[in-house]
Amino acid sequence: MSTSANKKKLVIGNWKMNGSSAANAALLRGLLPVISSFERVEIALCPPYPYLATVADLLDDSDVVLGAQNLSTELSGAHTGEVSGSMLGDIGCRFVLVGHSERRALYGEDDACVAKKFATALQAGLIPVLCVGETLAQRQSGETQTVVTTQLHAVLKAVGIDELAKGVIAYEPVWAIGTGETATPEQAQAVHRHIRQWLADHDCVAADCRILYGGSVKADNAERLFNQPDIDGGLIGGASLDAMSFAAICEAAQAKPTI
Ligand code: PGA
Repeated sequence: MSTSANKKKLVIGNWKMNGSSAANAALLRGLLPVISSFERVEIALCPPYPYLATVADLLDDSDVVLGAQNLSTELSGAHTGEVSGSMLGDIGCRFVLVGHSERRALYGEDDACVAKKFATALQAGLIPVLCVGETLAQRQSGETQTVVTTQLHAVLKAVGIDELAKGVIAYEPVWAIGTGETATPEQAQAVHRHIRQWLADHDCVAADCRILYGGSVKADNAERLFNQPDIDGGLIGGASLDAMSFAAICEAAQAKPTI
């Protein structure tokens, strides 16, 4: 099974529930001039809903693309407070996160809900970024691979392998998110390898699928993570709120020039 070491990597900034009009503008003023010269990495930003349209405008002249952090399971209609995939597409989103561990843990999103959101995102023409990962207790009891496989399987059952392969997968160990504790490159690579093998076992061109790592990726650990053969980029939370840190992470993800 070939891996994807030579593919352009993808780095996604997940701002979570942070920012303000002024803070976002300042962040982009610091960030865009630096990252706009990075042609060997794909970069996306996921601001909170209220700022999507403004950030879309600010990104207009750059290659950085827009993503959202969530979407409704429903397409339209009487769902007060929800935002549909087609609305996100309408204002310029390319990506949308689904199944982030904070949505699963704090907002009761189970595998069925996540699978529905994944399907709805594809229907709206968005690229879903499916987040999977184990808790510390699950890792300590040796369940990491089973947990990840179960989360993937729920989406497979709902949409089939061809549709699943149109998305991006983000492996985010729950114990590493926002904790400052990162999976070692070897720990992350082992799970990424498992995911790619699982994809291959389901008859998909596994080397073409992008599998991101997320969980306390910082400027000083990004390169070692991104150098792993099955890590195709990162989903970055805290460090995406600091222009210089996020720029350094994007730089670390740039494909090495071929000579
Ligand atoms: P973190 O968050 O980089 O702050 O750990 C990652 C994420 O939740 O996507």
